[in-house]
Amino acid sequence: MKFFIDTANLAQIKEAQDLGVLDGVTTNPSLMAKEGIKGQENILKHYVDICNIVTGDVSAEVISTDFDGMVKEGEALAKLHPRIVVKIPMIKDGVKAIKYFTEKGIKTNCTLVFSAGQALLAAKAGATYMSPFIGRLDDVSTDGLNLIEDIRIIYDNYGYETEILAASVRHPMHIIECAKIGADVITAPLSAITALLKHPLTDIGLAQFLADAKK
Ligand code: G3P
Repeated sequence: MKFFIDTANLAQIKEAQDLGVLDGVTTNPSLMAKEGIKGQENILKHYVDICNIVTGDVSAEVISTDFDGMVKEGEALAKLHPRIVVKIPMIKDGVKAIKYFTEKGIKTNCTLVFSAGQALLAAKAGATYMSPFIGRLDDVSTDGLNLIEDIRIIYDNYGYETEILAASVRHPMHIIECAKIGADVITAPLSAITALLKHPLTDIGLAQFLADAKK
């Protein structure tokens, strides 16, 4: 399973990259705003800065909602760096734009997926990645992990190559459950990734080993 970090914070991206387990980055307009990145020029420069830190795919989201706008924006994003993936919302014109970029050989990440039907459409359009938001489904008392299970079955039934990128991951158990189900990718905050490191018996055992080594 690939590990992506879900942030636009350069320090956190670097920390995850240095850990040696990072396969890519996802961003969205909210994450960019959180870092105070404003204005088209600064936003584009920030994507390039991210690409220069990591070795994997970097999702950069369009903000247009019509086909022509998404194509124009997506083409400009794709030109920034070979590892940029154009992130496109699951709306009617978004599906058309994904199909367009697929035919041009430009990678896409279909975002804001909340149902199996949406996931099926994203795969049929040829999306490289498809992002179901599991945490936000949990927030409205709907099991986000059940959706990942359903999509896994559907994609396997037909051999769709679109990768299931579990997004809106909130904690380490989301990551572990996604791995059990067979999600291709998770994107998570650094805190959820580093939480996988922690176990009290590791700390106790290490303290004991270090104490015994001094004897
Ligand atoms: O990748 C999508 C993700 O950023 C959404 O996460 O925590 O805002 O639901 P969250």
